[in-house]
Amino acid sequence: MAQNVDIAADLERVHGAITRALEVSVENSAKFINKTPADIELQGFTMFLDCFITFLEGHHEIEDNIAFPFFKDKLPETPYEKLKAEHREMVSILKQIDEANQHLKEAENIGTAARALNKHLTQLQKIWYPHIESEETHLCGECICSVVPQIDQDKLVARFGDHSRQHSKPAQLVLPFVLYNMPPEVRSIFAKGIPWIVTGLLIPYIWKSKWRPMKPYFLPH
Ligand SMILES: [Fe+2]
Ligand SMILES: [Fe+2]
Repeated sequence: MAQNVDIAADLERVHGAITRALEVSVENSAKFINKTPADIELQGFTMFLDCFITFLEGHHEIEDNIAFPFFKDKLPETPYEKLKAEHREMVSILKQIDEANQHLKEAENIGTAARALNKHLTQLQKIWYPHIESEETHLCGECICSVVPQIDQDKLVARFGDHSRQHSKPAQLVLPFVLYNMPPEVRSIFAKGIPWIVTGLLIPYIWKSKWRPMKPYFLPH
């Protein structure tokens, strides 16, 4: 477990990875409307979207079930009910994204599936940007530090980590997805919360053949 964590900075790192993955997904789904991808491209992209859905669902669950109840009385100005309603809205869009992604995997009518995917991803983007802006404003570093001692921040992040380990499956796909949607300087800080055996051995060597199809959609590493 990482010590002396900064919850607000951690939240921003996770939001940054999701934002980047969403933008890559919008861009590539638009590309595949008119240009049929090669099999390997399609395999990598649909895998990338599966990881995106899993990771974003897990992020909402962490906020709804752990972070928001924890901060509710400490930072009462945060619009928790509005944020939770936006999560529900995003979950229903994610179901449509998942459905379109399953059609894309079947590789029939790729253009139609990519068009549907692009439409739902763009809908998601419209909620996502103002949503994270609100979270990062209300749950900012200064706001959190003024009401939560460091030791409790460490304990809270450990609970986020426990949830993440249970939800981010398969780990050999979801973990590289998260890390490689972060630029190297952000990734190295985030990776401190993950055992070295995972970041130094499993991801770069043992698991590589599993996640390799997603590589064209990742940041350079
Ligand atoms: Fe959220
Ligand atoms: Fe969030």
